[in-house]
Amino acid sequence: MSTIGIRGTFFDFVDDPWKHVGNEQAAARFHQDGLLVVADGIIKDFGPHAEVAPRHPGLAVTHIQDRIIVPGFIDGHIHLPQTRILGAYGEQLLPWLQMWVYPEELKYRDRDYAREGVRRFLDALLASGTTTCQAFTSSAPVATEELFDEAARRNMRVISGLTGIDRNAPAEFIDTPENFYNDSKRLIAQYHNKGRNLYAITPRFAFGASPALLEACRRLKHEHPDCWVNTHISENPAECRGVVQEHPDCQDYLGVYEKFGLVGPKFSGGHGVYLSDSEFRRMSKAGAAVVFCPCSNLFLGSGLFRLGRATDPEHRVKIAFGTDMGGGNRFSMIHVLDDAYKVGMCNNTMLDGSIDPVRKDVAEAERNKLSPYRGFWSVTLGGAEALYIDDKLGNFAVGKEADFVALDVNGGPIAQPWHQSLIADGRGPQTMDEAASQLFGVMMVGDDRAVDETWVMGKRLYKKA
Ligand code: GUN
Ligand code: ZN
Repeated sequence: MSTIGIRGTFFDFVDDPWKHVGNEQAAARFHQDGLLVVADGIIKDFGPHAEVAPRHPGLAVTHIQDRIIVPGFIDGHIHLPQTRILGAYGEQLLPWLQMWVYPEELKYRDRDYAREGVRRFLDALLASGTTTCQAFTSSAPVATEELFDEAARRNMRVISGLTGIDRNAPAEFIDTPENFYNDSKRLIAQYHNKGRNLYAITPRFAFGASPALLEACRRLKHEHPDCWVNTHISENPAECRGVVQEHPDCQDYLGVYEKFGLVGPKFSGGHGVYLSDSEFRRMSKAGAAVVFCPCSNLFLGSGLFRLGRATDPEHRVKIAFGTDMGGGNRFSMIHVLDDAYKVGMCNNTMLDGSIDPVRKDVAEAERNKLSPYRGFWSVTLGGAEALYIDDKLGNFAVGKEADFVALDVNGGPIAQPWHQSLIADGRGPQTMDEAASQLFGVMMVGDDRAVDETWVMGKRLYKKA
């Protein structure tokens, strides 16, 4: 067994900061001088260095200085085969899919093309501090195989699955429900729970799924109840109208997935911009998750996700955050936090400058505000809880997988002026609030250049040049 120690300044979470309004520190943990002990990739001990070190005499320790070490980021919604169309110009969701996405994803039938795309995709994630993702692939199995194979070589935890579509896309891109079922079965047998790979039954979205395809998903979930279900939901007005037309017997967008028995724990729907109060409540009751993708919702002009409504304590919906890259124009969860903060602020004001009567609720307006505690919880432990992988990762609890990121708060485009002035002598954060303040600087002013090192299962896989 190989046991190592990592010494440095650590910041992680033990609870949901939205549950601790006015005292978010109660949800977090900070060790100015901490020690993380890792054996064969698993956390064996964690705490203040002065307490933990004497329990491990002779431990080989790597000291990461002048950094804040946080759990690896979790991207709850991203598209592997859109890596090469990042930043595609000019369209909203449905024409953007037709013009850019389907033609590009079609190329992933070619194994070499897919393999190179996967390599660049995982490199970009690691350089962004993202150690776990839930990823869409494409409608042909090659991309899914290549992603799982390369993730296994890197020992990264990935949730993914063949991405099914049988309607409203070019004929050469769509598949039949029978093929989707058979290919998914084979891929589940080959990859699910092998190493760190987890399988998500993945109907692309209700607008691209016939009842027969969704029926195949129901069967797959019934036969493999421990698999995840990943899809899109209520992202864009034209898409939502299309879903009503495609599935006229369903009361709303969520109702389509409910009809086929897909909504429950381990279900996640990306975006949820147009979810009604009723849909939020039903998702809350079911233990299903929505994935907030602010970069994408802004880039594709989809709309403003109602963060304060989704975090209503009476009907709390599980929420992961995601890039939705290439719908999102960044790989970095730091950018996601930046845009999420701004969406939250805009949510409290109508575009004409008046206060939205629906959002006059003071408590809801407060919940729209993305403090650094809420933000960094959402991309670590909160995302893990939403995806039902918090038994494996998300914080530095003993027994979890040692995926983490060393952040350089000065690594962004400029020194963060007022946050740095709080710690004028450059000695690094001494208290939890000082650390949170610096992390807010990272999320609003920084970018992936703040990611200095990324570690997966106790191994450093990325170091900034
Ligand atoms: N809905 C169906 N497919 C997609 C996709 O690739 N990206 C986004 N943002 N929404 C989708
Ligand atoms: Zn998406």
